[in-house]
Formats: sequence, C-alpha cells, structure tokens
Amino acid sequence: MLIVCYNNGVKTKAQAPLWEALLNYRHQKYNSWHTPGHKDGAYAWLPWRQALGAETLALDLTELPGLDNLACPTGVIKAAQEKAAAFYGAARSFFLTNGASIGLIAVILATCRSGDEVLLPRYAHRAVFNGLILSGARPVYLETEWLDEPGLPLGVTPAALAKALAEHPGARLLLLVHPTYEGVVPHSRELIRLAQARGLAVLADAAHGAHFGLTDTLPPSPLELGADYVVQSTHKTMGALTQAAMLHLREDRTGEAVAEALNLLQTTSPSYLLMASLDTARLIAEVQGRQDWGRAVAVAVSLRRQLAAAGIPCLAADQVVGPAAAGLDVTRLLLPSAPFGISGIELAAVLRQAGQEVELAAPGYILLLVTPGDDRAKSQALLEALLTVRRPTGREYRLCSKPLLQRQPRVALTPREAWLLPRRELSLARAEGNIAAELVAPCPPGLALVVPGEVLTAEVITELVELRGPTGKVLVAEV
Ligand SMILES: Cc1ncc(COP(=O)(O)O)c(C=O)c1O
Repeated sequence: MLIVCYNNGVKTKAQAPLWEALLNYRHQKYNSWHTPGHKDGAYAWLPWRQALGAETLALDLTELPGLDNLACPTGVIKAAQEKAAAFYGAARSFFLTNGASIGLIAVILATCRSGDEVLLPRYAHRAVFNGLILSGARPVYLETEWLDEPGLPLGVTPAALAKALAEHPGARLLLLVHPTYEGVVPHSRELIRLAQARGLAVLADAAHGAHFGLTDTLPPSPLELGADYVVQSTHKTMGALTQAAMLHLREDRTGEAVAEALNLLQTTSPSYLLMASLDTARLIAEVQGRQDWGRAVAVAVSLRRQLAAAGIPCLAADQVVGPAAAGLDVTRLLLPSAPFGISGIELAAVLRQAGQEVELAAPGYILLLVTPGDDRAKSQALLEALLTVRRPTGREYRLCSKPLLQRQPRVALTPREAWLLPRRELSLARAEGNIAAELVAPCPPGLALVVPGEVLTAEVITELVELRGPTGKVLVAEV
C-alpha cells in the first residue's frame, strides 16, 4: 500500500506512515467532538499541558478516520507494522502498547494450551510467568549456568537443552532470554536449532535487545538466528516512548492466533503517541541506526577502557563467554561495587548525589546503559563521579548469598492451578510447607523468587523475609 503524506505541502511517499497520518490529521484542525476528553489539551491541568507542550496533547488522538485501528489494522497502522517487519526481517510485526510483557504473554497464549509444557530458564521475566498463569501451561525449568560473582545468569547450554528435550518430548515452546538484563547473550542459534528440530516453537525475549543487529559490533537479533517469535522493548534501548514495544513473527502461520491473543489482552484504546513512537523509532533506526549505534558502541567501549585503566573494570565478554553464553552487549556496563568497598545500592545512591542515575542497583553491582542518546561529554561526567567515589572505605564488600534462582523449586501445582484456588494470607514465620498462590518477582529486574504452585521451603522463606521483613506475609493456596 502506498501511503501519501504531505511535507510542507509536497506530496511524498510515507516513511513513517502512522506518524505522518497523525500529523496530517492534526493539520486539518477539526473541532473534536470525540475522545479523548481533554480535547486537544483544552481540558488539561495547565502546568501539565505546559510541561508537555500543547502540540503533544493535540497529537494524543484516537481511532479517527484515516488513523486505522490497532485491533484490526487495514490502513496506516498496518503499513507502519509492515515497515517494521521489513526492517527487522520478520514476516509480520505487531505494535504493542503495554510493553514487551504483553507480547510474551500473547505468544504463550497463542501457542500453548492448558497442561502444555514450556521449557524456560528460571530467570525468565515475570511476564512469562503471567503467561503461564493465564494459559495453564506447565513450566519445565532448564538447568542454567551462573557467574557466581556477582551472581548473574549466563544461560542454558545446548547440552542442558538437549537433555530437557529428550525428557519432555511433548513440550510446545522454548523461551530464550536473549539477552539477559545484564546483556549476556546465549548460544541462541544452536538452542533454536535443537528446539525446532523437536517441533517446538521458540520465543525469544529480546526486551533488552531491540538494537541488536543494527551494527556488527552488537550481538545478532534472535530473529536473524531463527527464533519464531521475538519480543523487543523498543522503549528500553531505542527511541520509543515507555511501554511501546514490538513483537515479530518469523513466519505468519500463527499470526491470526497471536492477533487474537493480543486483542484479548490489550486495551481497545491504544495510545497513538506510543504507536507513532514505534513508527519513528523504526524510521530512525532504518535511516541512521548503523551510524548511531556505531557511535554508542564507541562511547561504551571508551568508557569501559577508561574505567579499566582506573582499576574499576566492567563485566567483560571474556568473563561470560563459555558453554552457556555466546557474548555480551558492550553497551550495557555492569560495574561490580566490590572495588568501591560498598554495595551496589550504596554506590548508586552516591552517584545520584553526583547527578548520575543508574539503570539498576543490585547488591553487588550497578548497571548502566549506553544508547545513541549518550555522548562523550556525558560519559566523562559519569567517569569523574565514579573516580571521586573511589576512595577506599577500608571495608570489603562481598555478596554472600547464592541467588535462589539457581536452585530447582519444588513444584506442587501449575501456576494457573495455584492461582485459581482459594487463597489466604499467612505470616512468613508460619508459611513453610505451604503452596504459594502468588508470584513474587520484585522489579527491576522482575525475576521470580516464587511462582504460584511452588512449595515454600525454608530457603525460600529466608529470601522472602529478606524482601518483606520478619513480619511479612505471603499468599498461599488452600488445598
Ligand atoms: C528480560 C525482560 N523481559 C521482559 C521485560 C518486560 O518488558 P516491558 O517492560 O517492555 O514490558 C523486561 C522488563 O524489564 C525484562 O527485563
């Protein structure tokens, strides 16, 4: 379909069909007798309107003539999604207005029925467990490799996957995390090949990898490596607005089932600002992604070098690459806090006082993200702040506990069975031996400490007490 738009009154072929349709619509200056109720910002709290800019609110449009409908797209949204699919090498792409989370859940609902087995690492994001609760699918946890200091998931070895595939010949779906929050990339090509040879579909959670494949110095996108479904949080590393994400399908065979699942889950009033931000994030990546990300990689590499020269090295690829991990995204800087003699949480607090806000503060490290939105001047300010912090405190900070996620949980019920049972709240002191009815997955990073259906062992309770305090409570299933 050829979408026509007007740039300064000149007719051109649309490069970002949805964004341009929004602009064209706005230029007509229609009087609004429809939603949204703020009426182009006329009914909006003035300081809010001033902060956003009147034009932003005027572009907060809805399903109006010429603006298509995300639930059954036939016009500009369809065209924008097709452009995204062509750019990312997918047969079909979907715009998501509720984050990558909704894409993960939709694929699980579209591919699994109650009782079907899903192979996954236990460090999957909480959205995956929500998908299991909604679908009734049964999790089969893959053996995973970890880096003990500072306690990071590395991935699943092909040998561990082959063993699980042999033990679970009827499994439907393999969930890969490509990359992890910390930027570690598994041996996806091999893992995908093994799973597909056994008839499983492969869903790659690339929430943190929307920029992958844009230059040769970044890891490949899982779509390129053969994954059937790839979910990206375009808002996390690309220029889209928060919540805006994409789901790509390698083949369109199950496209209608995915669309149906998305319509089950998503709002009927998706934000056009979010959707247009996806259209323009794709456009900027298409027009200048290679240069932009080449520059971002250069900024990250230079920062890494300077930090290493100052004796505070970031996690490097050679520390993770091995049987379970194929590589590391260099634009993700994981800085262990041990050389500073403080915890990652304390380090983040000190940096905040110096005007630097981190992505994640964990007990043993901080995580920093570099994108084309950063430059050398900004990275110098960060470096100076870190060098100032680097006064020896005389303390040695070490991580003490082995993350719970490394252990296999005791599973009594499927997540859905446990979720649907009557439930009651128990104090943690009395909860041992009960079956959890709730998902406990603190964000960020949203990894599950407890999944509904698991038995609350003494070890799990200890972790929950750490999280919720000694007087904390937990929801358990009444069986
Ligand atoms: C690994 C992983 N997958 C999925 C998600 C969910 O992404 P979104 O916030 O776009 O819903 C996150 C969010 O942090 C994540 O870390």
